[in-house]
Amino acid sequence: MSSSDPVWRRLLTEVFREWFISETIWIDTADGELALSAVSKSTEPQRWARAITEDRYLVTQVNFGADPPDGELPWPSSSSSMPSIVAMMLEALDVRHGQSVLEIGTGTGWNAALLSRRAGDAGRVVTVEVDPTLAERARGALDRAGYSPTVVTGDGAKGFPDGAPYDRIIATASFREVLPAAWLEQLRPGGRLVGPWDNDWLGGMLVLDKDEDGNATGRFRDQLAFMRLRDQRAAYYGWEPEESEIERAALTETGCRGSDGDNIFNPELGRFAIGALVPDCYLHIDFNTPADYHHVVDLDDGFARSFARMYWDVNTPTHYQVRQLGPRKLWDEVEAAYDWWHDNDEPGMERFGLEIRDGKQWLWLDHPDHVVRVVTG
Ligand SMILES: C[S@@+](CC[C@H](N)C(=O)[O-])C[C@H]1O[C@@H](n2cnc3c(N)ncnc32)[C@H](O)[C@@H]1O
Repeated sequence: MSSSDPVWRRLLTEVFREWFISETIWIDTADGELALSAVSKSTEPQRWARAITEDRYLVTQVNFGADPPDGELPWPSSSSSMPSIVAMMLEALDVRHGQSVLEIGTGTGWNAALLSRRAGDAGRVVTVEVDPTLAERARGALDRAGYSPTVVTGDGAKGFPDGAPYDRIIATASFREVLPAAWLEQLRPGGRLVGPWDNDWLGGMLVLDKDEDGNATGRFRDQLAFMRLRDQRAAYYGWEPEESEIERAALTETGCRGSDGDNIFNPELGRFAIGALVPDCYLHIDFNTPADYHHVVDLDDGFARSFARMYWDVNTPTHYQVRQLGPRKLWDEVEAAYDWWHDNDEPGMERFGLEIRDGKQWLWLDHPDHVVRVVTG
């Protein structure tokens, strides 16, 4: 774990992560696949300790604290983020001694402890956790470690108005496209907010500064994948018609072939731009075996009952084929966004930003006046 900021470098080694990690953690076992396996401190102390010192995220709660149903894999509902990501976000937040800070998503409490150290006795840290069990556990860990931020049990999307205004706000649960209005209201003019913005294609770290008029602008920096604010999680789950219905839809040729699929779906290439341009479009790629390259891409908008299945066949020189159902022709929208990406010199995430002015929020390219898509207002 490292940081280019010497103060954070020191604090990250002084505020031990292990003080905040629960007896049982879950770690990924398969490469790239979310197959979690439980590791208990009492039965596998060395494996537990090794996982904590590695630069990896640790799942600290599954299934909102319930036991996974028999035969089903657990899914993560809280985690301790990768130390390198924690460091990157804290550095971007630029917290100074004596400042007031609001954190959304207390989780283990480790980040709140780091913020408390940095803000110092003259500062003030409030952290909000939606899950009462996690909030209670974090309170205990913070207390034992000697830190006393205010841990609020509640919906962090509403911020914590009683403690406002804040000089800094950091979200450690992602929000889908639209920044919760309460956060901007509770941020002091001149203040900074850092958080994981995402849609169903790709997420990025948004670093937003609020001006004296109450408006805010900021750019996307690095790619980030965080768990969503709880009541936005449902957006993860795609909608899929019956197989027979998909099969009945006409198979037509797309305008794409060869390396187009990589341009569209590669996070380093067009994926952020295209995902940003096509609203409310869930993406799922079923990557086939590496040797065969017949991938299947599903796009859906459950609200509009629209679905597209594209056969991304990397091996043949012909155009990929697609079946589209429902009022939205989702694949056609993706292709139009792909054309836009070419026409605008193939921008990556770092050329995009979010502007919030008079209650309206829009994505921009290169400059706030170059509006890409209004996300609300
Ligand atoms: C990635 S974890 C946060 C890690 C944490 N900052 C730490 O240092 O361990 C995300 C946390 O956000 C919490 N969360 C999700 N939705 C929330 C909401 N609406 N309000 C507050 N917390 C929320 C989850 O329960 C989870 O504990």
